[in-house]
Amino acid sequence: MDFPAEPFRIKVVERIKRTTREERERKIAEAGYNVFAIPAEDIFIDLLTDSGTSAMSDNQWAGIMHGDESYAGGRNFFHLQDVVRKIFGYEHFIPTHQGRVAENLLFSTLLSPGKVVPNNIHFDTTRANVQANGGLALDCAAKVAYCPDEEHPFKGNMDVELLEKAILEHGVANIPVVMLTITNNSGGGQPVSMENVRQVSALLHKYGIPLFFDACRFAENCWFIKQREPGYRDKSVLEIAQELFSYGDGCTMSAKKDALVNIGGFLCTNDGELALRIKTKLILIEGFPTYGGLAGRDLEAIARGLEEVVDEDYLAYRVGQVKGLADELEAHGIPFIKPAGGHAVYLNAKKFLPHIPPAQFPGQSLAVELYREGGVRACEIGSLMFGATEAPEMELVRLAIPRRVYTSAHMQFVADVLCRISERKESLRGYRIVWQPPVLRHFMAKLEPVV
Ligand code: F0G
Repeated sequence: MDFPAEPFRIKVVERIKRTTREERERKIAEAGYNVFAIPAEDIFIDLLTDSGTSAMSDNQWAGIMHGDESYAGGRNFFHLQDVVRKIFGYEHFIPTHQGRVAENLLFSTLLSPGKVVPNNIHFDTTRANVQANGGLALDCAAKVAYCPDEEHPFKGNMDVELLEKAILEHGVANIPVVMLTITNNSGGGQPVSMENVRQVSALLHKYGIPLFFDACRFAENCWFIKQREPGYRDKSVLEIAQELFSYGDGCTMSAKKDALVNIGGFLCTNDGELALRIKTKLILIEGFPTYGGLAGRDLEAIARGLEEVVDEDYLAYRVGQVKGLADELEAHGIPFIKPAGGHAVYLNAKKFLPHIPPAQFPGQSLAVELYREGGVRACEIGSLMFGATEAPEMELVRLAIPRRVYTSAHMQFVADVLCRISERKESLRGYRIVWQPPVLRHFMAKLEPVV
C-alpha cells in the first residue's frame, strides 16, 4: 500500500453506514440496477463524483461565519474577486451558482445557429450548452486521448493541427470561442501541457479567436505540469496557474471541484463588453453581479478554497491518493485508463469484462457489482450514458475521488472490492434496459440482468 499521508487531521466526522450483502442486493434491485437511484445513505464509499463533494477546512467554515449577506457589494465578493484576479488574472469576474451556468451565460451570449466551439473534449454540460444554443461542439483532442493503455504525460492536449483544420473548414467568423478543458475530464482527467496551451493560444491569436479555459480542475492540471513538464519543477503551482491563464482570454469555472466547496462557480473574461452583456443576463437568472446566485458566505468559502487548493502539500496528497489507488489496481491487473487522472481512476470495463458486449452495458455491470460487493458507488461512462445517440469508443467506470473526504484505508477498501470482483469477473452478467427517458437516459433508466 503506497498512499501519501493526509496533510490534515480530522476535526469533524460523518458516520457512514455499513450494509449487508443481502441489503445491497435488495437495494440495487429496487433501484432498477441504476446506482443513481440508490439513496446516498445506503452507500458506503461514494465515488460517483468529485464535484461538490469536498470536505471544507476549518478555515473555510470560519469564513462561512464571515458571510456578508448584503444584496449588493458584499465584502466577500471583493475578497473573492481579489483571489480570482491573483490566480486567474482576468479583468472581469462574474460569480454563478455552478459551472454550467457560467457555460450557459457564455454560449447563450456568443453563439447562434451554425457557430462552432472546439474543445479538447467537451464535458457533457459544456457540450449540451453549446448544442442548446444552436452550436456545434467539436472535440479536437490529441489522438492519444483515445488510447486507454498508452502512457503519456499530457493526454489532455489539444491536437493543434486538427484545431487549425477546423478553423479553416468552418471559417474564423463561425468560431466565436475555443475552449480548453483542464484537466480533460471526459478524456480521463488528463492534463494539458503548458507547451500545448502556448501553441493553442498562439494559433488562436493569429486568427483573432478568444481562448477560454474550462478551469474546474486547474490546480490538479498545474500540479501535473510541475511534476511532468521540463522547466516547471522550481515554479510554484500558483506561478504555473498564473502563466497558464495568461495565455487565455477568460474561463468558466465550477468551484465545486478545485475551489473545494459544495456549490459555486464563476466566469472570467478580459472583454468588458462581453462581461457587461453577461452581467445583464446574470441579473435575470442568477442575481445581482456581486453574488450571482450564491450567498455571501459561499463566496467566502470559495475564496478561501482557492487559496488552499494551490497548496502543494495538499496537491501532492490529492493526486498521490488517486495514483495510490491506481497503483493498487495495476498490481492486480485491473485495467484503467493510463496514467491515472488527477481526480479519478477510469476503469476500462471493455477490457475487464470482454465477455459482455457493449449492447449489454459492461460498464454498468461493473458499477452494479461495485455496489453489490462493497457498497461502493461509481459512475458508468459508456454505452448507457452515451450509447443512445452514438456508440462510444470506450466503456468506462469512473472512480471519482472526493477531495479530502476519504482516507487511504478507504482507498484500500475500494481496491480490495475490485480485486474480489476481478477473481470472479466471468460470472458478471450484462444488463438490458426496461425503461428509459428520452434524454440523458443514464440518470433515470431502469435495467434488469440478462439471464
Ligand atoms: N466542466 C467540467 C470539465 C466538469 O467536469 C463539470 C462538472 C462542469 C464543467 C460543470 O460544472 O457541475 O458545477 O455545473 N462535472 C461533474 C462531474 C458533474 O461529475 O464530473 P457544474
